[in-house]
Amino acid sequence: MDSIHVRGGRSLSGEISVQGSKNAVLPIMAAAVLVKGVTVLENCPDIADVHCMVRLLQSIGCLVEQAGDSLTIDAGQITSHTLPHEYVSKMRSSIILMGALLGRTGQVSLNYPGGCVIGKRPIDLHLEAFAEMGIRIEQTDERLAAVAHRINGNEIRLRMASVGATENVILASVLAEGTTIIRNAAREPEIAALCDFLIRSGAKLYRSSQGDVIVIEGVRTLHSCEYRIPFDRIVAGTYLFGAMGAGGNICLRDVCADQLGQVLAVIRIMGGNVVCTKDAVCLQALARPLSVPYVRTAVYPGFPTDLQSPLMAALCRADGQSVLEETIFENRLRIVPELKKMGAEITVTGRQAKITGTDCLIGACVRAEELRGGAALVVAGLAAQGETVICGKEFIDRGYEDIRRDIVSLGGSLFYEETEGPSQKGDEAETE
Ligand code: UD1
Repeated sequence: MDSIHVRGGRSLSGEISVQGSKNAVLPIMAAAVLVKGVTVLENCPDIADVHCMVRLLQSIGCLVEQAGDSLTIDAGQITSHTLPHEYVSKMRSSIILMGALLGRTGQVSLNYPGGCVIGKRPIDLHLEAFAEMGIRIEQTDERLAAVAHRINGNEIRLRMASVGATENVILASVLAEGTTIIRNAAREPEIAALCDFLIRSGAKLYRSSQGDVIVIEGVRTLHSCEYRIPFDRIVAGTYLFGAMGAGGNICLRDVCADQLGQVLAVIRIMGGNVVCTKDAVCLQALARPLSVPYVRTAVYPGFPTDLQSPLMAALCRADGQSVLEETIFENRLRIVPELKKMGAEITVTGRQAKITGTDCLIGACVRAEELRGGAALVVAGLAAQGETVICGKEFIDRGYEDIRRDIVSLGGSLFYEETEGPSQKGDEAETE
């Protein structure tokens, strides 16, 4: 099990290009299953979740080649509709292959993606929507199977604007009979990317200007296309909060500032001076950030739940008291005990955390238990005096190509240490 060592207490400075988006590439890789041909994806992040999705695609008959940041998926022959538990249990987002396999073959079978450290993560919305499209769902305690001789377009109103459920309905309806209308669809930029990819592959799909209504007219086939994966707004936000916690002056390239609206608004309240150009965001942070009276996570365009922990880590060093409320995933405050080991002053009541900033964060041995919480510990390590040792690097590797490369390029001090011992990864259900 590898660990990450961060030597903090120094400000960041430098410029990097931000990797492609995890949450965009995974559903688009699933969507490639709908194409009876070759899909080429550029700017794919080289992360553990993409490797896991590659294995899942290969297990159902796709030929996949990776060359640099380009991924070629040949889904000409689909040979299986059963997703191996080995990979489904590692990555919850394998659930989006349900819609894709149903759309392509009319069948899918898998074990439930396990419980999850950031919350209950039910899939009731996905299954209800499938049933409304004429898909028969069979469930046992462990397995889930779905079959449809014909998938019928329908009007689907999601009770919650779930990202995964929206993606699954889109994937199931692109090759369906008739028209599907999704109301209260998730509006995240990753949904827009999935829709763009499908349109380029020949899907008939329209999004309302707000993005909350998506209309899909089923077509017979999709065709090969090339698509560039957009930047990862969560990785960008992590590094911005890294600079806010430690101080400094950084520039992130290949970033679309529009997708960081609420994040940049919070950074400005924290005293950060942000300058945006067409494809870059530059931040000049104060030596010590200001506190933020209240931030709550919300669906896009609200403040993203995936950045709540990195923000919390930066606020631990703020001048004053801040309140964060987590409204999406109930277990996203699990990082608090680890931050307290570093001297953070945080009290949690229900889904709210009150953070009293201190200028005396001190490096400690801490444990990452999930992806974004792990990245937040790196942010805290950068803000703390002395050395922070973070166990559970494999969680961070799920979403960050190489956090050492990026942080070192931004002037931080971070190295990896290989240690003996079993990896946590197979033992614990994955998040996101
Ligand atoms: C996706 C993202 C994750 C992000 C989240 C919210 C990927 C791979 N992951 O996760 O990084 O944090 O969106 O922006 O894109 N819910 C139900 N029933 C369902 C589905 C969801 O109750 O059937 C609830 C969830 O428990 C959660 C909320 O809805 O409380 C949002 O979940 P959802 O938007 O579906 O998140 P994911 O797609 O799992």
